[in-house]
Amino acid sequence: VNPERERLLQAYEWSSKFFHYLLKNTEHGKPAMDYLRSRGFNDKTIDQFQMGYAPDSWNTLVQFLTKRSFDLEEMEKGGLLSPRSDGTGYIDRFRDRVIFPINDKNGRVIAFAGRVLGDAQPKYLNSPESKLFNKSRTLYNLHQAKSAIRKLRQIVLFEGYGDVIAAWEAGVHNGVATMGTSLTEGHIAMMKTMADEILICFDGDRAGQSSAMKNIPLLESAGIRIRIAVLSDGLDPDDFVRKYGSERFMSQIIDGAVSTTKFKLIYLKKNHILLEEDGKIAYMKEVLPIIAALPSSTEREVYLRELSSEHQLSYESLKQDCNLIRQTMQ
Ligand code: CTP
Ligand code: MN
Ligand code: MN
Ligand code: MN
Ligand code: MN
Repeated sequence: VNPERERLLQAYEWSSKFFHYLLKNTEHGKPAMDYLRSRGFNDKTIDQFQMGYAPDSWNTLVQFLTKRSFDLEEMEKGGLLSPRSDGTGYIDRFRDRVIFPINDKNGRVIAFAGRVLGDAQPKYLNSPESKLFNKSRTLYNLHQAKSAIRKLRQIVLFEGYGDVIAAWEAGVHNGVATMGTSLTEGHIAMMKTMADEILICFDGDRAGQSSAMKNIPLLESAGIRIRIAVLSDGLDPDDFVRKYGSERFMSQIIDGAVSTTKFKLIYLKKNHILLEEDGKIAYMKEVLPIIAALPSSTEREVYLRELSSEHQLSYESLKQDCNLIRQTMQ
């Protein structure tokens, strides 16, 4: 064992309990509690995800850790405190933020994410990488999701904390999040040992959908089966659950997840004005090579027939163009 690591784990565990207590049992925590309730998180969820509140103070955690004889320099390196700007000691790093503890796969707290209660920037302040926290090897909520993941051999992959939590309330117990960073080889290797399929459920905004698009080849080349949830109107999974409810989230978004080919067809459609001839032709030029690259002729037929009926084009001409592209691909 590494004693510095153990001390930092201890500090995170105690700080996490302290912030959770402040959220639930003090007057200071009330605005944060109101904020979480206004977002639709219920008390059971607030407990289960051990959400907390770091008060609007420079030294609440400094005092808490000092009383427990922690070395403040060590706590600063571990991301719980910040150095005072004049170099004379330390201040709390997380101030007036809702705290989402980040756990390792065994459930030990290794970092915090702190969210502002309103619209200030940065929206989330996270612990820096430390002896405990390696962002590219950490998936949020893996400790609670791992048993469902192993049972279902499937992972539902979200962008953020709120998405994992709202989806959990809706019944998705195999959900984890990359916490906004791009998917790394480390994440992929971890996921591959636990599951055969990943259901990507990213935000319905441009950034989320294009990041889903970007991750398809990475996951495919690792030999993982993929399905993709289609969100639109800029809604993220959390927004969707709050707006339309759990049942519709489960049936429309999770059960309605599509194949990668279908997702590409939907994604690329947004770039074209399909009511104009030019737009329709340009869209076909973009999607036919994707279909032509499919090794199975049955699969090619399925998508060509869909395009045919959706865009009032004959199956024969689509098939002919598709075959021409295939010849140039050999
Ligand atoms: N993120 C971050 N720092 C930021 C913005 C985002 O670490 N300044 C990470 C967080 O893990 C966040 C995820 O990226 O959960 C997705 O970002 P975004 O969609 O912008 O945030 P939401 O999770 O939707 O945040 P909220 O619902 O609380 O507004
Ligand atoms: Mn509790
Ligand atoms: Mn997002
Ligand atoms: Mn989001
Ligand atoms: Mn959100």
